[in-house]
Amino acid sequence: MRIMRGSSNSGVLFVLWMGLVVMMTIGETEGGRVRHYKFDVEYMIRKPDCLEHVVMGINGKFPGPTIRAQVGDTLDIALTNKLSTEGTVIHWHGIRQIGTPWADGTAAISQCAINPGETFHYRFKVDKAGTYFYHGHYGMQRAAGLYGSLIVDLPKGQKEPFHYDGEFNLLLSDLWHTSSHEQESLLINGRGQFNCSLAAKFISTSLPQCQLKGGEECAPQILHVEPKKTYRIRISSTTSLASLNLAISNHKLTVVEADGNYVEPFTVDDIDIYSGESYSVLLTADQDPTKNYWLSVGVRARKPAIPDQVLTALTLLNYKTISASVFPASPPPVTPRWDDFDRSKAFTKKIIANIRSPQPPPPPYSHRRIVLLNTQNRVEGFTKWAINNVSLTLPTTPYLGSFKFKLNNTFDRKPPPENFRSEYDIFNPPVNANATTGNGVYVFQLNEVVDVILQNANQLTGKGSEIHPWHLHGHDFWVLGYGEGKFKAGEDEKKFNLTHAPLRNTAVIFPYGWTALRFKADNPGVWAFHCHIEPHLHMGMGVIFAEAVHKIKNIPSQALACGLTANNGRHN
Ligand code: C2O
Ligand code: CU
Repeated sequence: MRIMRGSSNSGVLFVLWMGLVVMMTIGETEGGRVRHYKFDVEYMIRKPDCLEHVVMGINGKFPGPTIRAQVGDTLDIALTNKLSTEGTVIHWHGIRQIGTPWADGTAAISQCAINPGETFHYRFKVDKAGTYFYHGHYGMQRAAGLYGSLIVDLPKGQKEPFHYDGEFNLLLSDLWHTSSHEQESLLINGRGQFNCSLAAKFISTSLPQCQLKGGEECAPQILHVEPKKTYRIRISSTTSLASLNLAISNHKLTVVEADGNYVEPFTVDDIDIYSGESYSVLLTADQDPTKNYWLSVGVRARKPAIPDQVLTALTLLNYKTISASVFPASPPPVTPRWDDFDRSKAFTKKIIANIRSPQPPPPPYSHRRIVLLNTQNRVEGFTKWAINNVSLTLPTTPYLGSFKFKLNNTFDRKPPPENFRSEYDIFNPPVNANATTGNGVYVFQLNEVVDVILQNANQLTGKGSEIHPWHLHGHDFWVLGYGEGKFKAGEDEKKFNLTHAPLRNTAVIFPYGWTALRFKADNPGVWAFHCHIEPHLHMGMGVIFAEAVHKIKNIPSQALACGLTANNGRHN
């Protein structure tokens, strides 16, 4: 069984080393490498959860190869679309794309979808160490399996603010069975078990005990540890729908990184992880080394389809002192109740900026505040999600090209509303369920400091309010706070955390609550800000931020070879 360790770099099979190419451009004089990759995107038949599925993969791998680079490196990825009938793009989730907004990999926003048979070159710099990932950003290609890990290490000689002896990388995802939407598997590094359970002997389940030898595609990757050593476990979630919780029997987890930023370390029994988030936790192998232990990932925030059977993915923590085939002595950790939101909030609120690492605090004030009401609506008979009553539908011409060529009729010129009616009752279904569709943008000046208040509300019918993990492209933002009910300007802003606000690229809104974020519009480009639950984005749950667009330069014409920018692009 393969483990993933920092030193093995196993996923990166297709790197062509270019040696130490010293970048000549100003600002890149510290001498990063250019790392070249060739990514072929295609459909493949695989058995990620022991059943056959058609999944999207890269270079014959599912999940795609792990990219591992160092701060200051430039990644040059030649992406070839080997699908026969659909376009594709890849987004580098968590990479801010400073100065390269065209390489963000968002179809209809930063570029045209790459046509079948065509190759597109992404070229961008990774400027911050951390745990990231990449995924398709066109249609529902993330749910189809188009994703992989992207890990950025500190430059040689620089040390993390914590110690560890080895590391593992766990990319979490969910896999849907086309036959029924009730059926889903959770995957750890692309592996799960749908028709059997690794722990059937221990838990009440209708599933048989798995009879895996270890060589199967769906056999779990075991984490092999040496007694007394400390390991960094990188965990990221690219689920299309599920909110997750991860725990390892008998072991504590110390959270040290969130979304590529150091956090003030805190120790817990389990962590919540929402789609779009990444964490690093430290685990010390300080338990009885004559036993093996479960690592369990379960679903939160959604009622289990079969009562009392929480969907889980399992693997083992194996002390190298004994065989990995020795069964753990006790059942896997139990996932916290799906609707124990107080517990989720308590975990989320523990995340604050690391006190000793040089992380900038938020600017003390903002220039502008945008309040975004999240509602479920009906548009022409279809269920949609809307922000301030506008459900996002992307234009055919990418925004970036529209701004560059000053095209006036490619998207709604009227910016969407910056607030919602003060009478809106967030605790009840909408009185008028209708929303409009639109593709207008919020326009920011260079260096404008913007507060965004994400306001949750009741769903379309009946009582209830879902969790939504919001992800911002092109930036990290400071999370200033979380609150209950409707945001009350004067009162709630006094409670903002302006000293230890954590920097993140994804933050959740809890049921019937609000979340306050602050960011500086210092990265010219057009950036998506959206719910990371893929079907929600597909149903309109997102907005577009256009930032200092007159300062955008050097867009490769290849990025704009569609819609009304096709001709401009060619003559460029
Ligand atoms: Cu990982 Cu726009 O998303
Ligand atoms: Cu959502």
